[in-house]
Amino acid sequence: MNFDYTPEQEAVKGMMEEFVEKEVIPFAAQWDKEEKFPWDTVKKMGELGIFGTALPEKYGGSGLDAICHAIVAEQLGRGCSSLRGVYSVAVSLVAKTILAFGTEEQKNKYLPGMAAGKLFGCFGLTEPNSGSDAASMTTTAVEDGDYYVLNGSKMWITNAGIADVALIFAKTDKNAGAKGITAFLVDRDTPGFSTKDIHDKMGLKASNTAEIILDNVRVPKTSMLGGIGKGFGIAMATLDNGRYTVAAGCVGSAQAALDYAKQYAKERIQFGKPIAAHQLVQQLIADMAVDIECGRLLVYKAGHVKNKGQRSTKEVCFAKYYCSEMVNRVAYKAVQVFGGYGFSAEYPVERIYRDARINTLYEGTSQIQQLIIGNFELGVSAFV
Ligand code: CAA
Repeated sequence: MNFDYTPEQEAVKGMMEEFVEKEVIPFAAQWDKEEKFPWDTVKKMGELGIFGTALPEKYGGSGLDAICHAIVAEQLGRGCSSLRGVYSVAVSLVAKTILAFGTEEQKNKYLPGMAAGKLFGCFGLTEPNSGSDAASMTTTAVEDGDYYVLNGSKMWITNAGIADVALIFAKTDKNAGAKGITAFLVDRDTPGFSTKDIHDKMGLKASNTAEIILDNVRVPKTSMLGGIGKGFGIAMATLDNGRYTVAAGCVGSAQAALDYAKQYAKERIQFGKPIAAHQLVQQLIADMAVDIECGRLLVYKAGHVKNKGQRSTKEVCFAKYYCSEMVNRVAYKAVQVFGGYGFSAEYPVERIYRDARINTLYEGTSQIQQLIIGNFELGVSAFV
């Protein structure tokens, strides 16, 4: 077993740390306050090849390994969870899915632009009445000659308002449950496709979240991804990538919360000495540090399994479950170290605390992760 970063991973870490220090951290509070999608920074990420880190050279990426993919998400999470979300959805939930299940024509159409950060995707699985029970979706795709006609709506979709293409899951057979779901790549300019931005979120205010409305959207059969009835398995395999970068992002956000708390604890004087010298504050710091390291090791373990080319569902669920809960614990404690000041947007821990909350909800709630982990542990699931 080797816990060291490879020279390549070290280089990605260094590059991302520098990028986040210069281009993300100084602006994150303002983006949050103004609910501003950080287009300029996203553009810079594209120019630096950050969106292509985990995509193969053949399609314009740099072909780096799964740990590098996690490092990118971890560092973005350290600076701004909204930006990490933009990256995770575009790369983990869409580009990597096209790579895994797309035809050569689909890969050539979308991947070079996605690797360059010029073309963005969103992941349309959730619906107003279908969340954890993803197979209960009601969006339909009805065959019509060489086309399918899609009708329905998708809810809480990160990047939907800015995406060039949406990966839409729809029922091609209403009576076949999960086996009746098919995936389609729907270009934004297709007539009948529209989005409606969702505002007043608790956190992730700099990321775009929207509803997708599909009103008689006609897509050619060539836009089908992975074959008829294969959609549910594709969605689940995709979430093995998405949940991985969510977990990595949580580690980065938690690390930022700890770093801010340590700095503040050394500066804040109470009872005649810095609060860092008080043992109960040291206990908070120690608990945060250990919690973060446990999460980071779970993420890298999942990355190790991915690097071996093996299915990583179980390891990813361990990481997503642990890290999403962990970042909430850590953010809570960081606010505690800051005392009353932690309750103010003057300090970044307030934003980290709000941004942390979504992680136990999206890409599968903690309860869904527990269900999948429980199934693996007990050997009762259909997919063990
Ligand atoms: N990889 C490949 N195939 C998989 C798989 C995986 N990780 N997981 C399941 N499958 C396959 C199974 O093999 C099975 O296929 P067969 O029928 O051919 O054997 C099929 O999928 C059904 O599997 P299950 O019977 O185990 O599924 P289930 O219905 O019992 O449970 C669930 C499924 C785990 C509850 C699932 O519905 C789930 O994960 N729900 C949560 C959905 C979710 O995470 N939504 C978030 C959406 S993204 C988002 O948040 C928005 C955003 O923009 C970020």
